[in-house]
Amino acid sequence: MTFDITRIADPEYFAENRLPAHSDHRWFASLAEATTGASSFEESLNGLWKFHYAVCPDAILPGFETVGLDRSDWDEITVPAHIQLEGYDRPQYTNVQYPWDGHEAVVPGQVPQRFNPVATYVRTFSLEAPQAPGERVSVCFHGAESAVALWLNGSYVGYAADSFTPSEFDLTPYLVEGENTLCAQVFRFTAGSWIEDQDFYRFSGLFRDVVLYRRPATHLEDLRVSSTVSADPSRAEISVLVQLSGTGNVRASLAGAGEVERIGAAEFAIAIDQPRLWSGEDPFCYDLLLEVVDESGAISEVVQQKVGVRRFAMEDGVLKLNGRRMVFKGVNRHEFGLKGRVVSRAETEADIRLMKAAGINAVRTSHYPNNSYFYELCDQYGLYVIDEMNLESHGLWDRIRRQDAGMEEAVPGDKPEWLPVLLDRAANMLERDKNHPSILMWSCGNESLGGSNILAVSDWFRSRDTRPIHYEGVHWDPRFPESSDVVSEMYTPAKDIAEYLLTHRDKPLLLCEYAHAMGNSFGAVDAYVDLAYSEPLFQGGFIWDFADQAIALTDHHGRPYFGYGGDCGDAPSDYDFSANGILFADRTPTPKLAEVKYVYQPFRMAISSDAVMVENRRLFTDSCDLECVVTLTREGTELCRKTIATAVAAGESATYPLPFSLPKESGEYAVDVSFRLREPQAWAPAGHEVASEQAVFTVAGAPRLRPSTRPELVEGIHNVGVRGAHFLALFSRLHGGLVSYRFGETPETGRELLRSIPQPNFWHAPTSNERGWGMPFRDGGWHLASRYARASEQSPEVVLHDDSIDVRYTYLLPTTPAGECVVTYRVDVDGHVEVTEVVRPGDGLHDLPEFGMLFTTDADLGRLSWYGEGPHECYVDRRGSARLGVYSGKVAEQLTAYVRPQESGSHTGVRWATVTDEQGAGLRFDCAAGMEFSALPWTPFEIESARHPVELPPIEYTVLRPALMRRGVGGDDSWGAETHPEYLLPEGELEFQFGFQGLA
Ligand code: GAL
Repeated sequence: MTFDITRIADPEYFAENRLPAHSDHRWFASLAEATTGASSFEESLNGLWKFHYAVCPDAILPGFETVGLDRSDWDEITVPAHIQLEGYDRPQYTNVQYPWDGHEAVVPGQVPQRFNPVATYVRTFSLEAPQAPGERVSVCFHGAESAVALWLNGSYVGYAADSFTPSEFDLTPYLVEGENTLCAQVFRFTAGSWIEDQDFYRFSGLFRDVVLYRRPATHLEDLRVSSTVSADPSRAEISVLVQLSGTGNVRASLAGAGEVERIGAAEFAIAIDQPRLWSGEDPFCYDLLLEVVDESGAISEVVQQKVGVRRFAMEDGVLKLNGRRMVFKGVNRHEFGLKGRVVSRAETEADIRLMKAAGINAVRTSHYPNNSYFYELCDQYGLYVIDEMNLESHGLWDRIRRQDAGMEEAVPGDKPEWLPVLLDRAANMLERDKNHPSILMWSCGNESLGGSNILAVSDWFRSRDTRPIHYEGVHWDPRFPESSDVVSEMYTPAKDIAEYLLTHRDKPLLLCEYAHAMGNSFGAVDAYVDLAYSEPLFQGGFIWDFADQAIALTDHHGRPYFGYGGDCGDAPSDYDFSANGILFADRTPTPKLAEVKYVYQPFRMAISSDAVMVENRRLFTDSCDLECVVTLTREGTELCRKTIATAVAAGESATYPLPFSLPKESGEYAVDVSFRLREPQAWAPAGHEVASEQAVFTVAGAPRLRPSTRPELVEGIHNVGVRGAHFLALFSRLHGGLVSYRFGETPETGRELLRSIPQPNFWHAPTSNERGWGMPFRDGGWHLASRYARASEQSPEVVLHDDSIDVRYTYLLPTTPAGECVVTYRVDVDGHVEVTEVVRPGDGLHDLPEFGMLFTTDADLGRLSWYGEGPHECYVDRRGSARLGVYSGKVAEQLTAYVRPQESGSHTGVRWATVTDEQGAGLRFDCAAGMEFSALPWTPFEIESARHPVELPPIEYTVLRPALMRRGVGGDDSWGAETHPEYLLPEGELEFQFGFQGLA
């Protein structure tokens, strides 16, 4: 048999001589060997391979597979790796667009010919031990994108095209004693690429482990373990199905439960009374031991299988786990790290620990099966998984949705030629992954419309397994609603879900994607979680997504940065849409993660002045494993710390008295309640906070005494000076504002604290979400108004009071229609300046991006402290996780490093803030009502001009932006959804009052 490369374009050509998919169990020579975790039946072929790169099929080297070919001039490449990160081709990020779009006009059934890199890998191996009689040897490519053809010792072995499941081939017929030459050819684009149009970096190559497997003459080819749990659930039955090759037998035992009874040639069963059930809260697994014996009765191999006993099913019209209604507090995860989709077990484990620590309980493997160890770790740590098949044809779907193509063009749609490959992919996933208790549902893929082919996939899953089926595409092609057991949607606003469910009560609804966490986002997500707890049919969702997909690059000056689409010269591209993570690409948390943890926390608390109500949202576990710590704080100083002994049953609420009384003295008091792990867990140390809440109580007191004398007024020709013993404020008649504010021992020796005239400010660097809905186009007038407002000719007006002097500027705003902004500086004898800013927007203008003032001071004032909400960045619609307190940080570190710079680094509820130099001199801002405040090294205009954080200019100033409010960040999606109305600045006239004063 020979390989015919022209066939790679044929959708019906996806596997030739590939071994059938089977369970991902490992086999060992003995129990002792199994306990070491290293199997003598496995040999890794990872490492350096000889490598030849051809830009297209026509450029493949003739005779590449020949044994003894002189390959001394070939390169060497690391396996596993994407060739695009090893110096060949280039990483390309596209979302919906096919990567070849506009380069070569091809249609399904064809693949690009001009540019379709072919990677030829060659290496030799010799078996570590001679082949035993009857033993078979296979090679498995656990991930080969997009397809691999294989030769051993010059003979063609086979072909396989499913990037994300094993491509395994039997090598036995071609093996020779001594050195064997293995040649794998990997094609970037094959027929399957039409259905691998996931929104991700496009790569190719051998990107997961390559392993040689030896199968003894009597071998466990496949293992299927399933369990049923009685309704009460006092009894479980475990069934074990084995498929042996060769002649022999299997002995099965379950640790702690005894010998498993044989009930057929290949079937075993065991009943367990009072089973300990597997769940995310208690991921307990039984240990199943299988001993495979050959004809002579000798052990030929030993298999250990973890068995999680659980019941997950549609019961009473909702999805229930072990009889309890589930709420998915999920996240979508691309298997992607700093080496692209080459992700180690340790990195995977670190991700899972992060998820558990953040209260995430579920993962959707968007949009392809992951490495086997991902599922193993989810079983072990307790995470619920929707395992998604490798399917997405979004680009073609767009032809139907946005252009004039008819539904008959849909792929896979109803086209018979696409059905076999779909069923193959379904089997590759299910057969490999079926024994993992963490997998609760199978997903038929992503964004590929509906149709009879998807229905067939769904039916096939049902024919093999009891897990419910998920598929979102039914929403867009509702002909076969039975393709999915749940209604699955993406990015639907919470209020629309609530409305839909009023009249559609036949299936529960999941959001397989929601809360699009691109850039500064994740606003108002509590609305979804609240709905999941008030509407039984809304069973939660999966945040989009876990971590930014970014590529580590260096700029022109040799500085490292995270690149996104387009930065590798890739076109077409979808730019920074690759970065939507609640974590940055290197897994440092974004401020969004704190909010995820808050909205997903398993306890909800309501704190009143004398009690705390605790609702335990866990399904199976009471609150006794957690210490409940209650603290009382006044302006950052802890006054009292006590613990409450709680015992709130799963799913129940209880109220406990606060362990202290609030003080009578005037002041603002914060009561914090925090649930912390008593014992260390696999995913967090003891003391880790699992849930928290805060309430703030004010005890009123006498108002602040103002100085009773008036500062000195110095009326010049061009300037109005206001001076006191320690300061001078100079207001210009020529330059339209406060040109100088000096503060120190005397007005003359005082330090100049302004580097430019404070400006009314209505603008921030557009967030990704704002760009998505067209904010720069709609609100651009406010950008102009923030930079180019003009003081009226009558400004400033001066008004004397007994205890202060008012200096007032009226600014004309160049919006269409024009508006005005009046800024009154009320200066007292101590140099405290109370600023009252009133804006009157032009008629009919929409809500403002923000409303406040912009001050510029020296970068020496680089230390920020504030009494307000924090410690992380927060906005009006993302402040649930923020806590009132006194915090500090460096100004230089305040701008969050979103891959594309944008509005960030702000804090809500700020009562006061100082920016000072190392000696503590500088400026103090105050606002009794609580303002939004940011201190950043750059203006909004500089921030929005940079495409990456490294491009921000060298730091020269500290830019302060006290504000009445900034528009909430929004984030239902990033392509049109606006901030929820309750988090917008009100339209029409607005007033903002705050103060500032020098600190010497
Ligand atoms: C969804 C898609 C995801 C991702 C997201 C936008 O439509 O399923 O893969 O593209 O939009 O970031």
